[in-house]
Amino acid sequence: MVYITRKETFSAAHKLSRQDWSDQKNQEVFGKCSNPNWHGHNYVLWVTVKGEVNPETGFVTNLSDVSQVLKSYILDKLDHKNLDMDVDFMKGRYSSTEVLAVEIWKQIEKPIMALGCSLHSVKIQETEKNTVEYFGS
Ligand code: NI
Repeated sequence: MVYITRKETFSAAHKLSRQDWSDQKNQEVFGKCSNPNWHGHNYVLWVTVKGEVNPETGFVTNLSDVSQVLKSYILDKLDHKNLDMDVDFMKGRYSSTEVLAVEIWKQIEKPIMALGCSLHSVKIQETEKNTVEYFGS
């Protein structure tokens, strides 16, 4: 089994807050991400897929095909968008990096399998200091 990773970047706006909490509590829990008038992050996304090496090509799968899946299913929907308002698969969900990683997994699991490999992990960096990684369970 060999693991290969595609790295992509996107920029998006969001806000983390609960309407049933006071502004003070939202600020305490979510910090700068609770800013009422939105804010943005330059996200980095790593998607790792795994499979056996095809003896004909030497590839697990063609990473340009993985890139195309990420473009169609994720980047075209997220890049320069508002995660809370513009993205169909994030509607009604908190736009934390944890939730985003899980929802991205759900969007790409089947298209990745159609490439003859399987999804291993979705990793997202929201800030220089914070990353989240999801392995499907
Ligand atoms: Ni934020």
